[in-house]
Amino acid sequence: MPSLASNAAWLARSHAAVWHPCTQMKLHETLPLVPVARANGPWLYDFDGRRYLDAISSWWVNLFGHGHPAINAAIGAQLAELEHVMLAGFTHRPVIELSERLAALAPGPLGHCFYGSDGASAVEIALKMSFHYWRNRDRPEKIGFVSIEHGYHGETLGALAVTDVALFRDVYAPLLHAGITVPSPDARLAAPGASARDHALGAAAALEAVLAERHASIAALIVEPLVQGATGMAMYDPVYLARARELCTRYDVHLIADEIMTGYGRTGTMFACEQANIAPDFLCLSKGITGGYLPLSVVLSTDTVYAAFYDDDPARGFLHSHSYTGNALACRAALAVLDLFRDENVIARNPHRAARLDALAQPLAAHARVRNFRHLGMIWAFEVESARPDFSYWFFAEALARELLLRPIGNTVYWMPPYVLDDAEMALLAERTLEIVACA
Ligand SMILES: Cc1ncc(COP(=O)(O)O)c(C=O)c1O
Repeated sequence: MPSLASNAAWLARSHAAVWHPCTQMKLHETLPLVPVARANGPWLYDFDGRRYLDAISSWWVNLFGHGHPAINAAIGAQLAELEHVMLAGFTHRPVIELSERLAALAPGPLGHCFYGSDGASAVEIALKMSFHYWRNRDRPEKIGFVSIEHGYHGETLGALAVTDVALFRDVYAPLLHAGITVPSPDARLAAPGASARDHALGAAAALEAVLAERHASIAALIVEPLVQGATGMAMYDPVYLARARELCTRYDVHLIADEIMTGYGRTGTMFACEQANIAPDFLCLSKGITGGYLPLSVVLSTDTVYAAFYDDDPARGFLHSHSYTGNALACRAALAVLDLFRDENVIARNPHRAARLDALAQPLAAHARVRNFRHLGMIWAFEVESARPDFSYWFFAEALARELLLRPIGNTVYWMPPYVLDDAEMALLAERTLEIVACA
């Protein structure tokens, strides 16, 4: 029996007892799990003393790395006062303060915060709220949702219905409410000679055609502003969002901005919508909201939406709940994250960090196997030309062997680092990624 201080002791037990997410478990017969013993800053440490640079912020959530002293202290202080109370009929200081601060930061007048536990639950909330809004406003025929080709909004059934990633969706298709998918503004899809903006305008024209014809039965359009993440960091021109906003207003269709990945500075501004100067009707946030500490999500909505539910009739209210809604520890962690943004001037400082990493990435961008090298805010992505059929697993394993946590999406390699890498860590990330690409 290996000692509990070694990886081997945990591998078989995890394989037997834990059904890991987004995983064909049989794969772990050949690609071992990585048991993590502890973490600090951008580094994860396994039980055998190896370390891994968390270059994707653990599925895009650990904005300030791991074990941040300020977030640790905030959770500790909250723990001494109140860990949790149900949010129906009760309220507490962290949820009030968080709601006020999020409303003040949000792009547009989004003063009403409804909490969930993870990204998918936020998307479910926004979809249900939009549908129910139209019903309360005597427009029960508005039940359809428009989503964008290759978009990703989560994997519960409602969220999956507006997701267009075949690997996640196809098996469950018979269970899903049929929606309308419109072409993606993804700049990589631009015709030869066309600019990213031209392509985005073309996609917006296709959206216009759908809304013009079918708006009477459409409740909402849902978008991932500026970057379609899970499909492979597809970046697009902000003009698409500006047009989408105009069209939604013109055709009486809600605009749901799913900033679960793009929010919290990932695209360079606090929220990606700011770069198109638009305000959505619903804003979904999660992932970085607690800096990777505790599950929390929120949907912010407008006075207009809120007013449609405010009534003497309970059934016209939004009767949706999750047991952990507005958990006090999670809200306190989220407040500590907002304090870090304010006190460390993160939005103003990140461009300097990004410029350093971008400079270090230039040899990679110029590599003969690299296509579509792109960068926005604190996201970098590129496709690798490789004949390996198992490219993403191969790359993941090669990265681990070089102290990097990188999980390509198909042939798309991306960095979504925590906002705390120092120069040496950035150099290590750039050099070792290039080493792997060179033997792809
Ligand atoms: C844009 C977007 N929406 C929704 C989700 C779902 O979030 P969760 O995995 O927390 O359910 C994700 C997750 O990657 C996402 O990127």
